[in-house]
Amino acid sequence: MNEQDLISSAKEMTLRSYAPYSGYHVGCAILGNDGKVYTGCNVESASYGATICAERSAIAQAVSAGCRQFIMAAVISDHNEICYPCGICRQLFYEFSDQMIILCCSSDGRSERYSISELLPHGFGASSMSD
Ligand code: THU
Repeated sequence: MNEQDLISSAKEMTLRSYAPYSGYHVGCAILGNDGKVYTGCNVESASYGATICAERSAIAQAVSAGCRQFIMAAVISDHNEICYPCGICRQLFYEFSDQMIILCCSSDGRSERYSISELLPHGFGASSMSD
């Protein structure tokens, strides 16, 4: 699985996105350290607050399948702006993999590559409470 394939998997998930309120369709694909790819899309609610982002939907897929270590994730929307994960999703990525890479992509083919610590500097995790 190369980076381009991971981005394609994420892009495919934008078609499954349920986003009737924002009209902003997001897909995410995570490469787990088991070599498998876990995908998710955003799922909105009329209550707005119950909305789940694509990233957390993909994280839930991975963890439910028994994968808790991520190598890389690709995030993309159906818009031409680069899609960057929201703060809550950065925090949940960090929970499982404080070294992972995140590819932030646009639907017109651009991508930017960040480590999770670049997106979430001085992240708070389990080790923050160990001493
Ligand atoms: N959204 C994601 O799924 N991931 C992001 O990284 C940014 C925002 C979703 C949430 C909501 O359904 C829509 O995009 C607009 O905020």
